[in-house]
Order: sequence, then structure tokens, then C-alpha cells
Amino acid sequence: MESWVVFGLFAFVLVSSVNAIVRVDNTSFYENYRLTWGIDHALLVKQDKEIQLSIDKYSGAGFESKALYGSRFFHIKIKVPDKNSSGVITTFYLRSPSTHHDEIDFEFLGNNGPPYTLNTNLYTNGKGEREQQFRLWFNPTKHFHSYKLLWNQYQIVFLVDEVPIRVFKNNTEKGVSYPSKPMNIMASVWESQWAGKIDWRQAPFQAHYQGFHVDGCILNDLHIPKCYSSKYWWNHMENWKLNPTQQRSYKIVRNKYLTYDYCSDRSRYPKRPPECQINQ
Ligand SMILES: *[C@@H]1O[C@H](CO)[C@@H](O)[C@H](O)[C@H]1NC(C)=O
Ligand SMILES: *[C@@H]1O[C@H](CO)[C@@H](O)[C@H](O)[C@H]1NC(C)=O
Ligand SMILES: *[C@@H]1O[C@H](CO)[C@@H](O)[C@H](O)[C@H]1NC(C)=O
Repeated sequence: MESWVVFGLFAFVLVSSVNAIVRVDNTSFYENYRLTWGIDHALLVKQDKEIQLSIDKYSGAGFESKALYGSRFFHIKIKVPDKNSSGVITTFYLRSPSTHHDEIDFEFLGNNGPPYTLNTNLYTNGKGEREQQFRLWFNPTKHFHSYKLLWNQYQIVFLVDEVPIRVFKNNTEKGVSYPSKPMNIMASVWESQWAGKIDWRQAPFQAHYQGFHVDGCILNDLHIPKCYSSKYWWNHMENWKLNPTQQRSYKIVRNKYLTYDYCSDRSRYPKRPPECQINQ
């Protein structure tokens, strides 16, 4: 039974990635993004269709979107650093520039071989501590994989390739705060004590990013409701919740690959956070 379920998941990933290959993203980095720090540790290659961010003991590097977005389907391809990258964090995230910020994170924790851990987090009004971690079912240092975030008025969905791994619903009506501020897309390679001690003899560590096309509602006037318009496909009804196929692969991933969930960390949260009490 179980092997059929796993087979189903992989067949689904396979079919989806075949679709992804057909659509070539030919957008140059500078069309939608700019470098923000560690500029001498960033290298644009393949006619600006790919960027390499390096970290050594002098610096890491980062970039961000030129625009602020109010709703979107964000996607990028990442190949994370190889070697023993313990202590190195490779990120891709959304963050509002305001104080009491909103933020939605993908963070790869460096390691020497499997398990490869992907940490996800979500902040509302400056409060995070909503980590969920996954053991990836592939080697993210070998090839590019897609990491995506759907964000509309109803749900935020984290996807790895085409597989939904985490859903955060808009339960504002039940007293759960939901990211609502315009956000930049950001990415970086940096060091963190949290992820272990870095062996600098192996530096530089290099992460690669591709796919700079952005499907988003750009906000110049901070007027977010216009981004809920149905002229944006990611706001359409079929994206208000997972479809049955997505629901199935979501369950498999949660059962097999979720390694940490703040919702069930009783030592940190003796009382379950409100969003965890509601049946997602
Ligand atoms: C992609 O971009 C390159 C360089 O900007 C250009 O030469 C090429 O024709 C483009 N390919 C497609 C399929 O648009
Ligand atoms: C969340 O849902 C409520 C309706 O329940 C809606 O009024 C609000 O705009 C939504 N918030 C966001 C940020 O989309
Ligand atoms: C990776 O490097 C860190 C930092 O030097 C070290 O503590 C760890 O043991 C190394 N891991 C392996 C598997 O070599």
C-alpha cells in the first residue's frame, strides 16, 4: 500500500517536472531583481539567466526584487551549495520592509550529505517562530529544483517542485493573523550558528539561482486590495484550496518527510498556537 502511495507522489512529480521543462524562463536577472549586499560575492552567468552567490569567511551575498508585491505565485529554481556546508544557510523568502514585518521563508540548512533539511517559517506582524522542517526526498545540491509560493487572499502554499508541503490558511475570522503587507522577494547565502559551525577550509560555498520571471501583483501605492483582483490567475477559485491531487501528495509529504513542526512542540508551545488548533 505504502509503496503505491510513494510511487504516486513520484509519478506526480515526474509529470509535473516534464511540464516545467517545456516552459523556458528566459528572463534576465536585472529585469526583476537587484543585488543588495556582498556584490563582489555574486556572479551573473548564462547571459544573466543564472546567478551564483558565494560565501567565504569575508562575506556572503544577497539579492531582492525591485518591486513590492501584494499577491503572487512566486517561483525560483535553486541548486544549494555542495561539499560540507554545515553552518551555511541558503534562503529564498518574501519580506515586507515595514517594522512589525510579515515574512514567508524557505531556508536550506547546509549539511554534508543527506538528510538535506528545508526549514520553512512564517511571520506576521514581526512574530515568527512557526517553523516546519522537511527532509528533502532528493539531493538539492545536485540539480536545480523549483521552490514556489502561492499567496492569495485564501491561502499561502509552499511547493517543492509541484508538491505542496505546507499550507497556511487565512483564518483571520477565527483570530489568526495572516500576512497582509506588500513584500519584496529576497534571496541570500549567509552563515548561521544555528545551522552549525562552518569549515572555512572548504569555502567558497556556492548557491545557484535561475528563473527570474515573476508572476506577481506589483504595488506602487501600497493599496493591497487591488492585488486580490480576479484578473490574476493565482486568485482564481481553483487556487483557494488544494485540489484533490495536491491534497493527496500533501498528505504523503507531511507523513513521510515532515521532521519538525512547531504545532506539536509542546515544550515551546504548551498551549497550541491558534492556527494549529484549526483543522487545516
Ligand atoms: C533568450 O535570451 C537570449 C539573450 O537575451 C536571446 O538571445 C534568446 O533568443 C532568447 N531565447 C528565447 C527563447 O527567447
Ligand atoms: C483574509 O480573509 C478575510 C475574510 O475572511 C479578508 O477580509 C482579508 O482581506 C483576507 N486577508 C488577506 C491579507 O488576504
Ligand atoms: C562538517 O563540518 C563541520 C564544521 O567543521 C564539522 O563539525 C562536521 O563534523 C563536518 N561533518 C562531516 C560529516 O564531515
